[in-house]
Amino acid sequence: MNAVEIEEAVADLAQQSFDPQEFPFTFLAAFDNKPTTIKRLRSAGKGSTNSSDIPGGVLQRNNIHIAVCDEAEVGATLDALRASPATGKAKAKFILATDGRTMEAENLASGETMASSFADFAEHFGFFLPLAGISTVREIEDNPIDVRATGRLNKLYVELLQHNPEWGSDERRHDMNHFMARLIFCFFAEDTDIFEGVDLFTRTLDQMSERDGSNLHQVLATIFRAMDVPHGERDAANLPRWANRFPYVNGNLFSGDTDVPWFSQMARTYLVHAGRLDWRAINPDIFGSMIQAVADESERGSLGMHYTSVPNILKVLNPLFLDDLRAQLDKAGDNGRKLLNLRKRMARIRVFDPACGSGNFLVIAYKEMRQIEAEINRRRGEVERRSDIPLTNFRGIEIRDFAAEIARLALIIAEYQCDVRHRGQQEALREFLPLSHDNWITCGNALRLDWLAICPPTGSGVKMNADDLFETPLDQAEIEFENEGGETYICGNPPYRGSTWQTKAQKADLKAIFEGRTRGWKSLDYVAGWFMKAADYGTHTNAASAFVATNSICQGQQVAILWPPIMATEHKINFAHTSFKWANLASHNAGVTVIIVGISRDAESKKHLFSTGEDGNMLENQVDNINPYLIAAPDVIVKSSYGVADGRSVMEWGNKPTDNGNLFLTKTDRNSLVSNHPHADKYIKKFLGAQELIHKHLRYCLWINDEDRTDAEKIPEIRRRTEKVAEFRAASKAAQTRPAAAFPHRFRQIQSTANKYSLVISRVSSENREYLPVDLVGQDTIIGDRNFALYDAPLWNMALIVSRLHWVWIGTVCVRLEMRFSYSNTLGWNTFPVPFLTEQNKADLTRCAENILLAREAHFPATIADLYDPEKMPDDLRHAHEQNDETLERIYIGRRFKNDTERLEKLFDMYAQMTDSGQAESAAQ
Ligand SMILES: C[S@@+](CC[C@H](N)C(=O)[O-])C[C@H]1O[C@@H](n2cnc3c(N)ncnc32)[C@H](O)[C@@H]1O
Repeated sequence: MNAVEIEEAVADLAQQSFDPQEFPFTFLAAFDNKPTTIKRLRSAGKGSTNSSDIPGGVLQRNNIHIAVCDEAEVGATLDALRASPATGKAKAKFILATDGRTMEAENLASGETMASSFADFAEHFGFFLPLAGISTVREIEDNPIDVRATGRLNKLYVELLQHNPEWGSDERRHDMNHFMARLIFCFFAEDTDIFEGVDLFTRTLDQMSERDGSNLHQVLATIFRAMDVPHGERDAANLPRWANRFPYVNGNLFSGDTDVPWFSQMARTYLVHAGRLDWRAINPDIFGSMIQAVADESERGSLGMHYTSVPNILKVLNPLFLDDLRAQLDKAGDNGRKLLNLRKRMARIRVFDPACGSGNFLVIAYKEMRQIEAEINRRRGEVERRSDIPLTNFRGIEIRDFAAEIARLALIIAEYQCDVRHRGQQEALREFLPLSHDNWITCGNALRLDWLAICPPTGSGVKMNADDLFETPLDQAEIEFENEGGETYICGNPPYRGSTWQTKAQKADLKAIFEGRTRGWKSLDYVAGWFMKAADYGTHTNAASAFVATNSICQGQQVAILWPPIMATEHKINFAHTSFKWANLASHNAGVTVIIVGISRDAESKKHLFSTGEDGNMLENQVDNINPYLIAAPDVIVKSSYGVADGRSVMEWGNKPTDNGNLFLTKTDRNSLVSNHPHADKYIKKFLGAQELIHKHLRYCLWINDEDRTDAEKIPEIRRRTEKVAEFRAASKAAQTRPAAAFPHRFRQIQSTANKYSLVISRVSSENREYLPVDLVGQDTIIGDRNFALYDAPLWNMALIVSRLHWVWIGTVCVRLEMRFSYSNTLGWNTFPVPFLTEQNKADLTRCAENILLAREAHFPATIADLYDPEKMPDDLRHAHEQNDETLERIYIGRRFKNDTERLEKLFDMYAQMTDSGQAESAAQ
């Protein structure tokens, strides 16, 4: 269940008559507990999972302790729940007591409490969302109207499409979206005195339409028509008296086609329900983000639960420009002239989000700037002064029609709310209607549109007159506005999509931007296009840009592809936020891991590097430089290198079979082959792929030297297998594979084999392990191509690979598959900066590696997966690793590093020196 569905279930529960016996179970059901879970809680005796020690109590482990009590006992019962030993033992997150008249609850982790009448407890559903695995967002908790409105409108939308399927077609989708935008405007307007009287819209619909909804479309069409007629033309328009009460709205929100879909009785009920909500408190940023999912079939199920929280949006906007405006405000104090200058400056600032969705970044930027302006006006004694900040300075591009509609509406609503808040209701109303004609959100593909035309360089004008707000072609790319010259801030959360997931059209978008500028652009994430366009834009005008992005653009191979062309435009990273979870309302914390990167051509200013500390707080560091890996170090770019220049061993790929499984044997296969043909034993070796390395699975493979082929193929089972390999390779689509059909007794690609032993490292490994998975195997084992290998390498090489230093280097310079580490010999091992190692250093490191292997041995037969599970890592093994890190880090800097940041700064400094002095043999890109 998502938050909208939970809100609906809780609202239903609050309306039912109170049943003391049933309440705890119906409550838990509303929060997405399965019937089997509830059955087990309900059952008495042995199988029961209810561990409550309070009379009438229900205690669900790791979740909640609920007790229903007698009247007026709620406070005392809550105390008893808090003091109950069972509450602590079961690690309950919440306690809740109710007598059916009132309810009190506490979040035991945060200490927050909730008290409400029983009938109103649904208002507090946000408080309980963690019970359904949804980490709450403050604004939702405080103001659940956005979730409610989304739920009601979603029901209406789905019901309307069911009875008007043609409105869901490509041709009519825009009409449907436009219709929904009109409804939302009316709901908001009737609750905020924009329409005269209380609930004018919903009341009129309720009164004028038939109960079965049959004429509701006509009533709505008449109301919409009324709002398109200026007051001076009303008589001629011949409007019925009940429609004449609606004001002229203009902005052409209501112009053009007033066609309305047909309403079933159910749709009518949903419409009236939506209208009964109090839309005054709507948050245009949150609501907009949620509602846009309604019109998107692929996202409708999530109902906008990927909504971006305001604190996260501020992580982009504050360092980009809002912090500076606030600092200027502080500096100005009560100095009228300085305050005036700041106000003038703000009136010329343009904020541009070229993937604006429903406009949440723009809305927040607008609201924050209005807040600062209001403070200026207060200090200057001009509280009622009309705002100097034009809404049209908050520009956006959005590819989806409905989201673009909502973005404009959200900004209009935000402007009205800000006017009410800062200047008072009367002033706000006086200037609100009619709406302006300007069109400043462009519907189109941001990677194909010319940003300079949409947000022209300051000081130059651009022609294109938008003659109405909602009906002009949405893909217009040139807009005429006052353009006095000021600063432009580009921001947003553009779409991320890895190269394998991009559509052909998206690939073509990237090609248009990057081809000829950087090789390897096909590997870039889609979001890279926004950074490049922002950098190009910044070469024409005074702009700074910051986007949320996937962390992959600042890791591994993408760094060397994306950042050199950006740096060629003289842009630097001014601020960045290292990886963090982009929280939203999706259940079970499904937020993605993201970074924020801010760029501009301002080379002088101090750079700000933000990160999330272990306690979840944001840490800020002022540094001299931030490099494209988001490290406070010089701007180096780590490039694949085809060799190591410092005496370390060569790391090679494992061997590639391309055999369709025919050269492999399970233990049973091997035993049966050997028992039938004892001399087959010499053609069989142990095989080590990724699973075998991490989980110690035992597998075998046929390993036949060329000179033994004839002899080996005399064994029918071996012959059968090699024939199959030949068949498979001969039929391969890959031209390089087909010739290998001539030697089907061998792996297709044999890199090397060991004389004595090999060090093996897995190519992909979980980021949760604190050390990279490396093992030592004998020469009787063949290494597969899911691993890298160092053949007959001195053991001190292993000490380097399993070090924390190497772990942070790989995590930063190699590719990540989602979060997992994808090891690379050329990018990770060959580039790893290692100081000169004396013979003594090597001996010390060898001993450290031996101790790690011995510690593992002591836990035989535990696998690498068992031993390196961070929750269960044995103390002696951890100690051996600590010793290894201590020894190695002393070689680097004479002491342990304080943290990973310091490790990376050192490694990048060394890498910069290493590449300067030409030690790293760079591979051609
Ligand atoms: C991650 S969302 C961010 C939207 C909004 N700021 C938020 O936080 O909800 C990315 C937005 O970019 C839009 N988008 C995707 N491709 C686009 C393109 N080529 N041009 C313009 N917008 C695009 C999507 O429709 C979506 O609304």
